[in-house]
Amino acid sequence: MTKRVGILISGGGSNMVALARSMTGEHPARPCVVLANLPEAGGLARARDLGIPAVAVDHRHFRGDRAAFEAALSEALAPFAPDILCLAGFMRVLTAGFVGRWEGRMLNIHPSLLPKYRGLDTHARAIAAGDAEAGCTVHEVTPALDDGPILGQARVPVLPGDTPDTLAARVLQAEHALYPAVLRRYAAGDRRPVFLPG
Ligand code: GRF
Repeated sequence: MTKRVGILISGGGSNMVALARSMTGEHPARPCVVLANLPEAGGLARARDLGIPAVAVDHRHFRGDRAAFEAALSEALAPFAPDILCLAGFMRVLTAGFVGRWEGRMLNIHPSLLPKYRGLDTHARAIAAGDAEAGCTVHEVTPALDDGPILGQARVPVLPGDTPDTLAARVLQAEHALYPAVLRRYAAGDRRPVFLPG
């Protein structure tokens, strides 16, 4: 049975595009909706260009009431009946209540080699630490931030002279390879982690 995948974004949605483009042919999943917490998110137009329904639930309308925002988010998702949620550049912290309802069915991609560098500014932190490599991690979402079971990692070198922006661009390319590879296995019920390069 083909799994229906909802993708949550906040910005340009390059990971969403990579995921959507991967779900073709024999792939066990298809994108069913793209949802952004900001109506101005560029990824909404990119989703529509790919023929995917795209909706916005503006978190600013709920003035910090996370539960109210998440109720509206769930209501917006319901008509599309997603089986799996992929957080892809989604920049809102979700409450334990929402995460609990989706535990075991929600993935996130984080731009570091977890458990290193949970939270923000991951690239600047890796450079400041003098790390020889950086990368990204796909994990199941649990109530603790950036902490769930790891489903895949991709490693990239930190190069002399790297800035957070140059490293971010290199990691983002790795994200676009890793997330689709993980989702393909995850949607087929295979929890074996994916490590890139292969
Ligand atoms: C990027 O910083 C990426 O590392 C992280 O989310 C941000 C936006 O990604 N996962 P996208 O282009 O909106 O997918």
